[in-house]
Amino acid sequence: MTKQTEQVEVLRQHAKQASEKAYAPYSNFPVGAAIMMRNGDVIRGCNVENVSYGLSNCAERTAIFSALAQGYQASDMKTVVIYTPGEKAYAPCGACRQVLAEFLSGDTQVSSTSERQFRQWRVADLLPEAFEFDSGAYRNKV
Ligand code: THU
Repeated sequence: MTKQTEQVEVLRQHAKQASEKAYAPYSNFPVGAAIMMRNGDVIRGCNVENVSYGLSNCAERTAIFSALAQGYQASDMKTVVIYTPGEKAYAPCGACRQVLAEFLSGDTQVSSTSERQFRQWRVADLLPEAFEFDSGAYRNKV
């Protein structure tokens, strides 16, 4: 096993354990995510649903928000591994892609794993033409 494959396998275990903490009574689809930090720490996230469905938060975003809330910088985040239950390894949703693009460089690897599948992308390939906006420059113009 290469070092990178080993790291993904370790992160997959973290993501799978994180999925066990999911609050997903509406979809019954528990998802976990794990981010490897440059110092070797691993930050986890799970999906947290709401009775008002649209307020639900995905595992990937929980993990990123949690890392930031714990004091990590965007530049500390090295790679992300997702775990979705069952056969298929699901790709991140559109909202998560935009959040991944906000904090991770375009060439950061994002992997999705399941019981059977492994898929991997670069952030830039997950969301080509991500929304970018210089809010400072815009505000100063009007
Ligand atoms: N979900 C995630 O946590 N990550 C994704 O990338 C896709 C979907 C969650 C949201 C919701 O709680 C459940 O999976 C079903 O959509």
